[in-house]
Amino acid sequence: MSNRMWGGRFGDSPDDIMEEINASIGFDQRLFAQDIRGSRAHCEMLAAQGIISDDDAAAILGALTQVEVEIETGEFSFSRALEDIHLNIEARLTDIIGPAAGRLHTARSRNDQVATDFRLFVRDSLDHLTAQTTALMSVLAEHAETHAALIMPGFTHLQTAQPVTYGHHLLAYIEMLSRDRGRFADARARLNQSPLGAAALAGTSFPIDRHATASALGFDAPTANSIDSVSARDFALEALSAMSICATHLSRLAEEIVIFASPDFGFLELPDAFSTGSSIMPQKRNPDAAELVRAKSGRIIGALTGLFVVMKGLPLAYSKDMQEDKEGVFNALDSLSLCLAAMTGMMEKLTPVPERMLTAAGKGFSTATDLADWLVRKADVPFRDAHHITGALVALAEKNGCDLADLTLADMQNVDARITDDVFSVLSVENSVASRTSFGGTAPENVRAAAQSWRAALKNV
Ligand code: ARG
Repeated sequence: MSNRMWGGRFGDSPDDIMEEINASIGFDQRLFAQDIRGSRAHCEMLAAQGIISDDDAAAILGALTQVEVEIETGEFSFSRALEDIHLNIEARLTDIIGPAAGRLHTARSRNDQVATDFRLFVRDSLDHLTAQTTALMSVLAEHAETHAALIMPGFTHLQTAQPVTYGHHLLAYIEMLSRDRGRFADARARLNQSPLGAAALAGTSFPIDRHATASALGFDAPTANSIDSVSARDFALEALSAMSICATHLSRLAEEIVIFASPDFGFLELPDAFSTGSSIMPQKRNPDAAELVRAKSGRIIGALTGLFVVMKGLPLAYSKDMQEDKEGVFNALDSLSLCLAAMTGMMEKLTPVPERMLTAAGKGFSTATDLADWLVRKADVPFRDAHHITGALVALAEKNGCDLADLTLADMQNVDARITDDVFSVLSVENSVASRTSFGGTAPENVRAAAQSWRAALKNV
């Protein structure tokens, strides 16, 4: 038997392998809610335009609701022979109301249908990711305020650079996540046009109202070109790009949790709820959740790469290649959503170890820049020379096996006679961070103010 939905010109049924490679119902059933939303809007528009009768429209709308309930309750039986979600739903409508169901597909093709469904799905998902990102930012902002003055080493090249505060470090991630939210919003704004009514690729001869369906579905406008409407997947690429960047940020945070919670650093204590033990080494507490957040960025970036490769050689308009757009996006969305949830849970319960952070902050001559700055400010030395003099003092301290603050004034004056006792006031890590009052700097008062303003801003989103 040929395919009941499109087999008019076919004498024979598809080969079993053909059916297997062709079918997308195994994964595109996730689009059922969006597909039904799109069909409702299309059906109401067809009736309003007098293209189908009010009676047929009422029957179709009633059957759509029944199908929706059947799918939600798990009663619906999906058929691979019916290929995809669109044909599965349409076939069931026909079972329920008979030939009137066949009028729903007037002035529509699966090409504009799937483009509409997928846009709606990505839009819903971006809204969800945005809310999750906001929740993570709120947790970070709360901790940033609590730990605005908690001193830790700041690193460059993972070498101790200058003291910073833990709150300041956390605020850096809030900035990244806030740009991620901005990218989700940009992607959402650009995708928010309705392809419905572009039909197969050329538009339709029926007097449809694409503005009405666009607005019924919450789109800002209908897409302007029917060929582009069914060919475009850049909305998915853009969403995946924004998701890849966000996943990269989470991965960096995860990497820092792994490093900072390792016994050698000991800056952070992992909560029991987000760590695991070893089956052989009883002392272990492993940061598996952080490691998996770090690793899952791989599949999200992989989905972006995968879709680029699918799309890059396709002629306009629709090609079946585009059916391969969905699984990667679904997987990336699920993964990022899980990573955001795991990171929020972890950050909520992660506790810093102040003594370890403070001790480490003083190591590695971390106030050397403060010393150089003192020479510039108090002894009127040009910064380049001050850098050189400080380098000599660091070498001396290293040779003596002590910190800069442990050098005697006589030792220092041997290197440069302009140094006075006052220099010792800038060599402590506390003074170092307190002095960084420039806009965006790590001074605890700056950090507290920034954390408070983030907390206030995040309450209002
Ligand atoms: N399942 C298809 C997809 O996901 C729907 C569109 C099919 N269109 C077609 N002309 N065969 O892309």
